[in-house]
Parts: sequence; C-alpha cells; structure tokens
Amino acid sequence: MKVKDLASKVGEVIELKGWVANKRESKTVAFVILRDGSGQCQCIIDVNNVGEKVFNDAKTLTLESSLSILGKVVKDERQVGGYEIHATDLKIIQVAEEYPIAKKEHGVDFLMDQRHLWLRSQRQWAIMRIRNTIIFGIHQFFQKEGFIQMDAPIFTGNACEGTTNLFETDYYGQPAYLSQSGQLYGEAMAMAMGKIYTFGPTFRAEKSKTRRHLSEFWMIEPEMAFYDIFQNMDLIESFLNEVIQKVIDECEVELGIVGRDLTMLEKSIAPFQRLTYDEAVEIITGKQKVNGVNTIDTLNGDLKSKEEEKAAILAEIEEREAKINQQGIKKGERNFNMNKVAQLKNSLKDVEEDLRNIPEWIASATNFTYGEDFGGSDETVLTRMFDTPIMVYDWPHEVKAFYLKRNPEDERFARGVDVLAPEGYGEIVGGGERETDVEKVKAKIIEHELPMKEFEWYLDLRRYGTVPHSGFGLGLERLVAYVCKLPHVRETIPFPRMYGRLFP
Ligand code: 4AD
Ligand code: MG
Repeated sequence: MKVKDLASKVGEVIELKGWVANKRESKTVAFVILRDGSGQCQCIIDVNNVGEKVFNDAKTLTLESSLSILGKVVKDERQVGGYEIHATDLKIIQVAEEYPIAKKEHGVDFLMDQRHLWLRSQRQWAIMRIRNTIIFGIHQFFQKEGFIQMDAPIFTGNACEGTTNLFETDYYGQPAYLSQSGQLYGEAMAMAMGKIYTFGPTFRAEKSKTRRHLSEFWMIEPEMAFYDIFQNMDLIESFLNEVIQKVIDECEVELGIVGRDLTMLEKSIAPFQRLTYDEAVEIITGKQKVNGVNTIDTLNGDLKSKEEEKAAILAEIEEREAKINQQGIKKGERNFNMNKVAQLKNSLKDVEEDLRNIPEWIASATNFTYGEDFGGSDETVLTRMFDTPIMVYDWPHEVKAFYLKRNPEDERFARGVDVLAPEGYGEIVGGGERETDVEKVKAKIIEHELPMKEFEWYLDLRRYGTVPHSGFGLGLERLVAYVCKLPHVRETIPFPRMYGRLFP
C-alpha cells in the first residue's frame, strides 16, 4: 500500500512501509509522520491500541528510521495528505543513527555534501517529481507530434558549441570530447527520419559559479526537416505551453511544497513575445519603452522596493531576537523564533544580493554595446519588462554558432533564436534555422577555427539532398528551475555536477 492511494482504503486496515520523516510523542501516544516516497502520512501510535511492547518500540524510532506499520485509514483533512493511520501494529526495520540533516535551516554547502540524504526531504522530493512530470510531458508532446526519439553519441570528435568549454577525454589514445550538444547528429537523423528529438546528457566545462550553469546537464533537442525559423518558434511556443500546463495540472501538491506562485507561471502559457535582436537591444538600453515605462526607471523602482523590504526584514529580526533573549521564554517558542530568524537571515541575504545586483544591471543596460551577445544581466533586464517568455531572433552572426543560417534579406544576421524565461531565469532554449549551403558552412568552420576534417560528415548533409531545417535545445534543469522558481539549478538534478563539485 502506498500513501498516495490511501483515499481508496478509508476504514480498512492496511500496511505502509517507509521512513520516519518526523516524530513527537506524549506519555501514551506517538505521532509519526511516515514518508514512503509516494507521500507523507501521520500515523498515530496509541499505547491503548498497540500495547506496551509496540509502543516502547515506537519510542525508540529516530528520524529516518525504516519501518512498516499496520493500521486503519482515517480521513482527516487537517493532516498532511488528508489521511491518518491509527496504528494497530508496527515493525521496525532499522533504527537510524543520528540523522545529519536536522529539522532546522542548514547552509546550502552542507546540504550539497549531504545530497544523497537531502533528496529525501520534502522540498527535494517535490522538485524531483516536477522534473519527472516535465520529462514525461516532453516525451508526450514530441511523440504526439510525430517525432522519433533518437540518441546522439556522448563521445564526439567535434565541437558543436565552441571550443572553450570542452571536456577532453582519452579515447583509445586519441582525444575525444564529451558532447556539448547532440544537434549535429540530430541534423543527420532528421534527414533520415523527418522530425526527431534527442534527449541526453550534455557536458560543458563552465569554470564559473553561476546559478544557471552545470557541467553536466540534460538537453532536449528536436530537429525538423523543412522547418524555417518561424515554424521553429511556433513549435517552441506550443511545446513549452503544453509542458508547463501539464505541470500545473498534475503537480499542484509539489508546486505548493516548493512555494511556487502560480499566477506568474500561468501567464507564461500564452503566445511568447517575439523580438528581433535589434528590437531587444532598444528595450534593454531604455530607448524603447514597454507599456509606457523603460528599463532604467523600472529597475530604479525595484531598487527602492528592495530597500524597503530589507528594512522590514531587519526590523523583524530585531523583534524576534528580543523575544528569544526574553527571560522565561518557553523552549518551544524560543526554537520557533530561532528558526524564523534563520529563515529571515536567508531572505536578507537574497535581498542584499538583489541590492548589489540591480545597480549592476542598470549599469550594464546603460552601457550595452550593440553587436554583443546578451549576458545574464541583459537577459534579466529584458525579461523584467514582460510576463511571458521572450523569443529573441536574428542575432548578429558573429556572436552565434557556426551552423546558423543567415537571414537572406539581411546577411548581417543569423537565424538563431533564444528563449528567455521570465522572473530572471534567462535563456532556457537556444536554437535556430541551419545553414544549408555547403560553402557557407565551410567558411564558418574556417572562421571559427574548427578542424574541417571532423566536419566532413556534417558537410555531407549539405551535399546530398540539402533542405531547409531547424531545431532547438532546451536545458532541462533551467526549465525545472524556472517552473519551480528555484534560486539555483543545483537543486533541479539528483546529483549536480558543477565547477567545484563532484561529491557525492
Ligand atoms: O544555447 P545552447 O548552447 O544551444 C545548443 O547547444 C544548440 N546546439 C541547441 C540546438 O539548437 N539543438 O544550449 C541550449 C540550452 C540553453 O538554452 C540552456 O537552457 C542549456 O542548454 N544550457 C545549460 N544548462 C545548464 N548548464 C549549462 N552550462 C548550460 N549550457 C546550456
Ligand atoms: Mg545559447
């Protein structure tokens, strides 16, 4: 029996197997919150129902001890999950050693070191279930649309996304790189199958600690024969709309646990704002207003409200610390306030980070040089002005990948498209229409100083029945971070690999 299925068993005696997520007890009753992977449920172990021996066993249960419990299912709306077990028997599988993750606020570095255990906590459980729903939704969408899922190799002889962040390995005495993207192989597959998608791990040696970068991340890369950039954008839009809608429909509990405000998320299920690079730059630099305001005034307004927020947090910390230091304060109330203060101090850190960041965003928006790629702050500034994701297309060809097609009406621009998520999440999708002319691709390979020999097979795709085609890559972890509104991608993948972390 699983906690998620209790609704169908009200009034019956069932057995649950799981772990102790929490416990409190009085002289005659123990309350155990049992988690079994499918959910959590309060179990009431009353000495009058289970007898002296079992009750004494229950008293030895520590956090994360494993057990099986027999009892009657009772409906109780006030309890987590809405049901309760009135125990009649209990078998301990193991009494756990003192659990390192306590019921209080821990620092992130500590929790990352305990990732193998941290995954058990309710918030991580919710994030992983949302990730799972997103993955399933992605497959559903593409399968329904007639795409064939195919796998690109991980060991590759060529760079897809530039040579600066390659992981090099020794492949029987010759260098090979861990794949940065399955795209080039995806193009070959699309010429065989029409519409395909790859879904696999990709690797980038990103020697910087940002909240958006992992060294190993999962990417979904559809590639479609006979699609131009505009059909590509239509597909991106309906794809993201459907996947996000599925999460909202199916993950109400999980979104609640991570504290996601749905009003903003729901607004992203709509046609996306489409801007050319030129239009986007006008907005970033404040020359073009959006709904009557420009970026600089908007950011200055944000700065002011963050100052107010900081003052309010400081005042509350002071108030609660005074309470903690009061003489004769009850232990429970003291602990409660200490936990609150720890939470407030975390919020304070966030606000202070914003207060440091916003002036930098204002400066970088003001000083943006036309022709450059967008940095994280440019993306943040631009997305701050809209509720929906934004698709920026037609980029200066110099800043984009070698494989992109030029806009036939204006060769200065390459037909790339980036999707920028709202609420400061930045680029979640990169894609575009591909160059089909063999000579133009060759020229770009030379310009990017890539080894021509390794790309001969790729050039063949332009020699034998070349057709217009497009595709894109969605970073799974970035989408999960945005959907859950997490401060960092490290919580979106079971065991993150990023600069400075390989453990556990
Ligand atoms: O924009 P990128 O580099 O595009 C490509 O790799 C194309 N070949 C995709 C294609 O057209 N088939 O990467 C695509 C997406 C980004 O938008 C981002 O979401 C994610 O992959 N991404 C990362 N996610 C986490 N950590 C990193 N270091 C990432 N680098 C890219
Ligand atoms: Mg990109």
